[in-house]
Amino acid sequence: MDQLVIEGRHPLKGTIRISGAKNAALPILAATLLTGGTFRLQNIPRLVDIKTFTDLMTDLGVIVDYSADNDSDVLNIDSSGLSDHEAPYDLVRKMRASILVLGPLLSRTGKARVSLPGGCAIGARPINLHLKGLELMGAKLRLKKGYIEARAGRLNGAHIYFDTPSVTGTENLMMAAVLAKGTTVLRNAAREPEILALGQMLNQMEAKIKGLGSDTVKIEGVRKLRPVDWAIIPDRIEAGTYMMAVGTAGGELIIENLLANHLEAVISKLRSTGLQIEGDNTRISVRKKGNLHSVDIKTLPYPGFPTDLQAQIMVLMALADGLSVITETIFENRFMHVAELRRLGADIKVEGRSALIKGINELNGAPVMATDLRASASLVLAGLAAKGTTTISRVYHLDRGYECLERKLAAVGANIKREKA
Ligand code: EPU
Repeated sequence: MDQLVIEGRHPLKGTIRISGAKNAALPILAATLLTGGTFRLQNIPRLVDIKTFTDLMTDLGVIVDYSADNDSDVLNIDSSGLSDHEAPYDLVRKMRASILVLGPLLSRTGKARVSLPGGCAIGARPINLHLKGLELMGAKLRLKKGYIEARAGRLNGAHIYFDTPSVTGTENLMMAAVLAKGTTVLRNAAREPEILALGQMLNQMEAKIKGLGSDTVKIEGVRKLRPVDWAIIPDRIEAGTYMMAVGTAGGELIIENLLANHLEAVISKLRSTGLQIEGDNTRISVRKKGNLHSVDIKTLPYPGFPTDLQAQIMVLMALADGLSVITETIFENRFMHVAELRRLGADIKVEGRSALIKGINELNGAPVMATDLRASASLVLAGLAAKGTTTISRVYHLDRGYECLERKLAAVGANIKREKA
């Protein structure tokens, strides 16, 4: 198994280019199941989660063709030969986002058999809202041997209210509704930029969706969709992570190929910590001058502060002047990184859904273990700041969601390398 070895305290200088967003690419891949014909997807990040998802699609009978050279970020996809409707336990267990095939399979073929995802490192993560929505649209669902078995004739439009806004829930139901009979209204829908991007692609495919970007989405079902060429939006979480790397390692980075308007809450908080952030929507500079100031943070659905950057900003707070409180409102168990950060000397107490952080002057390198994707990123940020060597094991978590992380960081001056454990 690979591990990352970081010698801390090397300030960053240079330019990092942001890759396509994992959480935008996954639903867009799922949307290609809605109709046959060739889709050409650009800016696809080369990540383990994308490979897992395309393996699932291949199992379903879809042709997934990475363009000629291995390094390409272009994928050609043709689901004309869709011949299966099952997402097996082995794949769903590896990646919960496999649930995104449920809506499109059901609306295109009238049947789907998808393993019910279990809990995961960050919380129970039920999918009851996906299932309730599909039932309201007329699907017959039953749970058999750990699988959701879904059947439907043509789905019917329905009025669906989300008790809590769910990102993949909104995406799944949008994909189910585009081919349904009549109008579907999703209320209290999630409105992350990745959902907007999916909706825009579906509209390009000739779906009829209104209200995109708001919490009320109206979808008028159509009979037929067509394949399109589409580019994946930049990964706002990757961009936020590198902005925060400047906060822990020091120095100055230019971050390019991002969409800064997707990071308003993050940029505003980072400015309050004292980081200097300037630039336009697609290219910014981030500079650290002086000590970090503590700020309180509460994770919220978009446009609030994203839970996917909570672990990373905690490292900044561990090194800031004063006390801060970070409250996680999205997932009930997303503080697994705290015990690892404490191994580096961080002073953090968890009380219920809040972490109380007392900033200290320095962290000290130590061996630590990654527990999930974003927790791993926080350990890298901590390693960049720490005195001495930090060794991070279980980095396969990072490979699920950060394209070439150690190469990107090494290219801007970090002392980081990958080794076999
Ligand atoms: N929830 C329910 N019932 C449901 C669905 C969700 O109670 O049927 C609850 C969840 O338990 C959670 C909250 O609603 O408390 C929000 O969960 P959501 O469904 O929005 O999360 P998700 O769709 O499973 C996506 C991202 C996550 C990201 C969350 C929150 C993808 C593929 N995954 O997950 O990304 O943390 O939204 O923004 O888009 C990551 O990239 O590291 C990651 C975990």
